[in-house]
Amino acid sequence: MVDLSVKLAKVHLPNPLINASGIYGSDIPDIIKTAEAKTGAVLYKTTTIEERNGNKVPRYWQDELFALNSIGLPNKGYKYLIQITPEVKQKTTKPMITSLLGFSFEEYITLCKAYNDSAVDIIEVNFSCPNIEGKPQAAYNFEYLPKLMKACREAAPDKPLFAKLPAYLDPSQRKMVAKMLIDSKFQGVTLINSLGESLLVNAKTEKTYIRPNNGLAGLTGKAIKPVALGNVWGFYNLLKDSGIQIMGVGGIECGLDVFEFILCGADAVQIGTAYIRQGTAVFEKMENELIQIMNEKGYTSLNDFRGKLKIWGD
Ligand code: DHB
Repeated sequence: MVDLSVKLAKVHLPNPLINASGIYGSDIPDIIKTAEAKTGAVLYKTTTIEERNGNKVPRYWQDELFALNSIGLPNKGYKYLIQITPEVKQKTTKPMITSLLGFSFEEYITLCKAYNDSAVDIIEVNFSCPNIEGKPQAAYNFEYLPKLMKACREAAPDKPLFAKLPAYLDPSQRKMVAKMLIDSKFQGVTLINSLGESLLVNAKTEKTYIRPNNGLAGLTGKAIKPVALGNVWGFYNLLKDSGIQIMGVGGIECGLDVFEFILCGADAVQIGTAYIRQGTAVFEKMENELIQIMNEKGYTSLNDFRGKLKIWGD
């Protein structure tokens, strides 16, 4: 018998498959739809202080390999999500993970404090939304980020905190950020957010595919998987002795992808673009595929292979 269960901080998940933030998870029907699928937990779409409509359309485009998004954080505001969470919890036993983003230091603190006193199980603090013009990602500001992380920790002492981070493409950046996560006592990290400032060109029309931000937007989908795996494996090697856990995200489309992320050190994974493409059935399909791979390899739990990637030649 294969056991897919996992603990994120002290929260029990029946399996490691979570919907990525940013797609569904904005109201009760949306959240229950994801809870009734074969997910291990449900992640809300990122919430802000105020309700937002998001960016002008077209703001999403996809093909087989890529998806480009500049949605611009449409959401009903954090108070709404806090208010509906007790009702959600009456309808499902799945853990609820919220996602929050502040447009200033003070906003992050307000959001962390409010969610600390709410019914959510875990807080994902989004330091890496690439889609708000004039608002640089906190995660790329190495003076601001450690102060912000510490303040978020102080504002939410009672909940597990996961930092949603972008891709870092240099090991020196990874080292600095790993130290910040350890110093600020975050329980976990989610890697990676969409690759910001990406561009896809429609040569036929000689136009961008999307409208906001001069056509520049966040890249997701199959094409970003190697970058995501590199960040998971890189951070895993820096964090494995600290107890800080990793949620892997980026281009996960099948059970084999899930297996690879866990082999590189992920405790759980998030599925975004593939959820849009394949609907709620994607979670059951991935779970079955993962079980089949584990059976073939003789693994009975995720711990049997988590972080055990071997280097060629060793
Ligand atoms: C959006 C995109 C992101 O990558 C993110 O982390 C949060 C929000 C968006 O455009 O809505």
